[in-house]
Amino acid sequence: MPRLSTGGRRTGDRCEQPVPPQFIGNLPQDARTPYITHNASHHRSVQPVAPPPTSRTRDLRRYLSRCPSVSIAAAAEKMPDERRLLQLLSLLMVLMGALSFVLLRSICMPYGRYASSVFGPPVPARLAWLVQELPSLVVPVYYLSSHSGVGAPERALLAAFICHYLHRTLIFPLLIRGGKPTPLLSFCLALIFCCYNGYLQSSYLCQYADLPPGWTRDPRFILGLMLFTCGMLINIHSDHILRNLRKPGEMGYKIPRGGLFEYVSGANFLGEIMEWSGFAVAGWSVPGAAFAIFTLLVLSSRAQQHHQWYLERFEDYPKARKILIPFIY
Ligand SMILES: NC(=O)c1ccc[n+]([C@@H]2O[C@H](COP(=O)([O-])OP(=O)(O)OC[C@H]3O[C@@H](n4cnc5c(N)ncnc54)[C@H](OP(=O)(O)O)[C@@H]3O)[C@@H](O)[C@H]2O)c1
Repeated sequence: MPRLSTGGRRTGDRCEQPVPPQFIGNLPQDARTPYITHNASHHRSVQPVAPPPTSRTRDLRRYLSRCPSVSIAAAAEKMPDERRLLQLLSLLMVLMGALSFVLLRSICMPYGRYASSVFGPPVPARLAWLVQELPSLVVPVYYLSSHSGVGAPERALLAAFICHYLHRTLIFPLLIRGGKPTPLLSFCLALIFCCYNGYLQSSYLCQYADLPPGWTRDPRFILGLMLFTCGMLINIHSDHILRNLRKPGEMGYKIPRGGLFEYVSGANFLGEIMEWSGFAVAGWSVPGAAFAIFTLLVLSSRAQQHHQWYLERFEDYPKARKILIPFIY
């Protein structure tokens, strides 16, 4: 139970300094509610606490350093460390995206049509997709169920994330037709990425997101979620078109027709890029932006490789079709 009070008093040698309301927003989301409840039940004269402000970690640290023996102060002291870790992981994700972008200039992403035994023994496609994507479904569900006091916009964003991975983990693999086995190395890298990103987005949204009150009415939130939804529909529809190019039992490739494939070779990738760009705009956060940038760097490379691959194999491949952005690129 938190020991700080809004009244400011001493019990034994324990310092129960008041936490100024403007710092409460720096506490992890689930530390705010018990803190307020505790005080409300013990101090009749307690004042309502102002809504959480935006982050002021340096000021909070300065304040806490004056009151080192307070137990919640110690807990709150630790939290900025995890916040810093999440920022570091976000930066690392962008760097990984940039490195992949450079590497993918010279090698093709080794799965699907570019799978090769050089990258390890094959893992059946359905099993690979189900297992490698699972952490991005399980981790946010765990975080949401184990953290109380998560705000409405953060919940909505995590629900969108879960919705995407429900489809990618449980539905997409079941529908695959004649998919090539995934080499073990590609499988392991995808699995590690989904653990990494599942933790990054879930921990940030459940504990550190500082979205202001009324964010659900902000145009960034509304337009971001609209972009996410449009992207998800395009992605699912495009994957559906690709799947139906094959009759049951077929393994070969044909020219995709219909939907956004009339304009670009990477219609499914365009949908996915739109999804995570919308997610980043709606959450207005560093981890969200890092995931969107990573997706853009990796999937634009895959779209470019597919486009080149089609041009080399199909003489009648539509010459006006672009790589990723209709009429432009
Ligand atoms: N967020 C991210 O960073 C990220 C990264 C990777 C993938 N993804 C998403 O995961 C999904 C699948 O990605 P992917 O790279 O596997 O996509 P893909 O290369 O387009 O393949 C998708 C499926 O369609 C089949 N297919 C593709 N083109 C075909 C054609 N011309 N004729 C017949 N069948 C065809 C593939 O079979 P084969 O397996 O036999 O090629 C595979 O089963 C996409 O929605 C993508 O957006 C997201």
